[in-house]
Amino acid sequence: MTEGTQSADALVVFGITGDLAKKQTFRALYRLECRDRLSCPVIGVAADDWSLDQLREHARKAIVDSGERLEEADFERFAKRLRYVSGDFAGQQTYAGVADALGEARNPAFYLEIPPSLFATAVEGLARAGLVSGERRVAVEKPFGHDLASARALAADLHRYVNESQLYRIDHFLGKMGLEEVLYLRFANSMLEPVWNRNYLANVQITMAEDVGVEDRGHFYDPVGALRDVVVNHLLQLLAGAAMEAPAGSDPETIKDSRLAVFRAILDADPRHYVRGQYEGYREIAGVAPDSNTETYAALRVEVDNWRWAGVPFLIRTGKRLPAKETELRLVFKRPPGLQFLSGSHRRPEPSQIVIRLDPQTGVRLVVDALRADKGGPSEIDFDVEFVSEGGEGPTPYEVLLHAALVGDSSHFIRQDAVEECWRIVQPLLDSPPELHPYEPGSWGPQEAQRVAAGIGEWRGPWLPGQSKSG
Ligand code: BG6
Repeated sequence: MTEGTQSADALVVFGITGDLAKKQTFRALYRLECRDRLSCPVIGVAADDWSLDQLREHARKAIVDSGERLEEADFERFAKRLRYVSGDFAGQQTYAGVADALGEARNPAFYLEIPPSLFATAVEGLARAGLVSGERRVAVEKPFGHDLASARALAADLHRYVNESQLYRIDHFLGKMGLEEVLYLRFANSMLEPVWNRNYLANVQITMAEDVGVEDRGHFYDPVGALRDVVVNHLLQLLAGAAMEAPAGSDPETIKDSRLAVFRAILDADPRHYVRGQYEGYREIAGVAPDSNTETYAALRVEVDNWRWAGVPFLIRTGKRLPAKETELRLVFKRPPGLQFLSGSHRRPEPSQIVIRLDPQTGVRLVVDALRADKGGPSEIDFDVEFVSEGGEGPTPYEVLLHAALVGDSSHFIRQDAVEECWRIVQPLLDSPPELHPYEPGSWGPQEAQRVAAGIGEWRGPWLPGQSKSG
């Protein structure tokens, strides 16, 4: 067994005092502890001059604030795993401190939840201290570049010290239960696979709506915007799950190759089918330029030019300060013809739809047209399954991904060739961004987004909490 597939015997987290650790990492590690899936020390590294007790208290608060129920015995076990190394990432003594804290550990895994501008510094420091030799894993957080050229430059910097196979690029959407479900449902059901293509589908719609705004993340968000923040990564990964062929093996490279094949088949996005919006009030947020031209809403159309999908537009939209948190994949079937056997002036049947919901909870909905007594004629009806009530929700995305990094399963992580393909797809939109349309917070974004669906049909849904009818 190589180091790459051996379980890690320590986890070193760079940036443990930061925001992502507070919101996700402690909770995920604690949940792994509770389920007996964490068995090694966790060494935090950050510039803050904290004591170990401070870190433990911070971890406790972060777990409680995340809404997790904290059991004292589980937390005690988890807190005992924590160590802390305080130091500047540019100073070699920090890495000597990490080596000390690692003690006897032979196969540590590293997790860099720090700004990408510091990745190369940290990896170089680790390399000089002899800590990332062999197949030791280094997990890194997005963003992986700002465009195609910077994504390549970032990878080249990292490849000076570590091999591609050591890099575990995190996209937390690949840890979501709903995305796993998309792939499984498609290929595990003979009822679904045969219709999951251009012979039956009119279009595919991906919606990631967020009710939250940019709030205290102005400094991070303003140079980034919706396209870079969630489309080039999360939503293209979701698209790949919906469009890829069944991988012919369970090994990580075969799975990544199947995803890559979809990205390769996507044509360069066309700025004529891209609409940008910015919610009113965004420019008043701390860290946002008063004349910011950054989009907080993006709607676009992409084409997957292969035998399964040619001619089926994929519509993608996302935005902040929309009415609800809702992420879904929606397949809209071709519209049936008028039904002559029905007497009276009945409408044409609506197209059937399959909806797979990722957030706020995993679910599946089938939308079909039926005759309904209460409506006095045909109408859409929904068959809904919420997974919470059918076996429960799975582990949280970070729990899945940190565990995968610990045991050396890279199938849920992004390879550099996929990163570059995704930037290649959106690069024309970055080069020629269309004008920005203001929208009211709490609305569904700018009206102009309809243009992206023009000639195709209309945006459908989303499947709102408590809503029993597709929109
Ligand atoms: C992050 C983005 O990657 O994903 C955030 O930076 C966004 O802006 C978040 O809010 C959404 O994640 P989720 O899992 O809540 O849909």
